[in-house]
Amino acid sequence: MGKIELYKNTLLNGTMVSLRKIRKNDLKSCIKWFRDPDVAKFLSNSVKNMTEERELEWFNFINSSGCDIVFAIISKCDGQYIGNCGLHKIDWKEKRCEFGIFIGNKKYWNKGYGTDTLKTVIDFAFFSLGLEKIKLLVYEYNHRAIKVYENCGFAPVDKLKNYHLYNNIYWDTYVMEKNAII
Ligand SMILES: CC(C)(COP(=O)(O)OP(=O)(O)OC[C@H]1O[C@@H](n2cnc3c(N)ncnc32)[C@H](O)[C@@H]1OP(=O)(O)O)[C@@H](O)C(=O)NCCC(=O)NCCS
Repeated sequence: MGKIELYKNTLLNGTMVSLRKIRKNDLKSCIKWFRDPDVAKFLSNSVKNMTEERELEWFNFINSSGCDIVFAIISKCDGQYIGNCGLHKIDWKEKRCEFGIFIGNKKYWNKGYGTDTLKTVIDFAFFSLGLEKIKLLVYEYNHRAIKVYENCGFAPVDKLKNYHLYNNIYWDTYVMEKNAII
């Protein structure tokens, strides 16, 4: 088993969440969540009209990728699968990656799960993987996510003008970064 496979199989233990490898069986929940406009509005337009076939293609891509690690987010208090998070485009030489997250089950929003997930993944990226920079994109109207990112030490480094189409309007997108303290 290669190094990346070991990382993909790691179980991460946060305070409110545990993060485990995503399974094929999780995909049906993802498709259901992507169909919820309240969730999809904060995600890339590529999740629109998600089909089982496309979702399986993505799953196979993630499993075989040497530069993507995706975790299923599990709420520790009840064992529920509530969303995904991942480190993408991992550049092992430049020691940087991109972060993505969604909690698809809306009952779990605003209760600290996102913050705990992010803190857990940041530790993993910096201390286990040895990365030194995490980047993410967030739409300007996603105030909750921006707050979580700021709370976890991310700062805006760029603004992509009119980058994201939602509700027939082109919205700006913030690029935010966090550096490891080295
Ligand atoms: C974004 C997301 C991961 C955050 O996770 P969460 O568990 O809901 O967030 P938390 O409870 O950890 O923290 C929410 C923070 O935002 C604040 N907040 C909530 N609504 C807000 C709003 N409308 N404006 C500003 N701040 C807001 C809360 O007060 C809290 O901050 P605090 O801890 O300083 O009080 C989750 O809501 C989610 O997955 N949303 C849908 C998909 C998404 O937006 N993904 C991110 C794409 S970039």
